[in-house]
Amino acid sequence: MSFTEITEAPARLNRSELAVPGSNRRFLEKAAQSAADVVFLDLEDSVSPALKDEARRNVIEALNDLDWGEKTVSLRLNGLDTAWTYRDVVDVLEKTGERLDLMMLPKVGVAADVYALDVLVSQVERARGRKKRIGFELIIESAMGLANAYAIAGASPRNESLHFGVADFAASVHADTTQIGGPNPRYAVLTDPLDDGGRRDIHWGDMWHYPVWQMVVAARAHGLRPIDGPFGDFSDEAGFRAHAARAMVLGCEGKWAIHPSQVALANAVFSPSADELAKAQKILDAMEKAEASGQGAVALDGKLIDLASIRQAKAMIKKAKAMDV
Ligand code: GLV
Ligand code: MG
Repeated sequence: MSFTEITEAPARLNRSELAVPGSNRRFLEKAAQSAADVVFLDLEDSVSPALKDEARRNVIEALNDLDWGEKTVSLRLNGLDTAWTYRDVVDVLEKTGERLDLMMLPKVGVAADVYALDVLVSQVERARGRKKRIGFELIIESAMGLANAYAIAGASPRNESLHFGVADFAASVHADTTQIGGPNPRYAVLTDPLDDGGRRDIHWGDMWHYPVWQMVVAARAHGLRPIDGPFGDFSDEAGFRAHAARAMVLGCEGKWAIHPSQVALANAVFSPSADELAKAQKILDAMEKAEASGQGAVALDGKLIDLASIRQAKAMIKKAKAMDV
């Protein structure tokens, strides 16, 4: 490990993160009862400009009156380029108790965006004597945000997670997409012609691989949770599972649910299975034996394992304990 130590963000389950529009009181009530690890109350893009004030009032009421159980509750603010962010921060912090855990800043472009929010939140917290420090979730969803992701991730001790906002990111880089967060059949490789004139195959690629991977690296380099964003086609469960799984493989800890039906899917994909846990335990047992006999690497089921495998196995078992699986 480097001599520079990484401070990990406070541990929280973040397998599913349910988005709920602040303008819809019934949805807010339903979200409070869902099985999501995190719910974000949205004041931004799911709320039309005409309803911004009403949504803010609803959210204040929901934070004060609804029972959110053990869930982490977050508030998605309007972006810093609007006229609404200061009211979102000040009104919600001044008019609610201590139930809110996180604030989510969309469309972050540079580290100074996070700094600016930190100043505002810190002043209200101090003025009101609030005890719980609000943590930050930052959405990487523009070319500028991705280019500055590393600096953004390290911009405040409040930072807890980076999120990949695929819809706005696609708009920012002028990507050609078919649906929010899904694959595009045109992002594909056609295999070379075969000598025997046989059928050529098309392999679809994951057009989001690069930004998701970049976000994961920037987040982990600062001890933050990387979280994959929305998958728009909520009738396509297999599609959601596949996209969540590829984000999990790259190191993400969870994925957004833009519909309540996606919560259970995300919780399942981001929880280690019994098989995975058994394998992790087997690695720890094998390495314990190896260490006792002075070896740093051994073969297990025909594959090499070493000290790095212990770290992976321990991380998985620790995660499973937190999830109670
Ligand atoms: C989320 O905010 C997105 O733009 O995908
Ligand atoms: Mg967005």
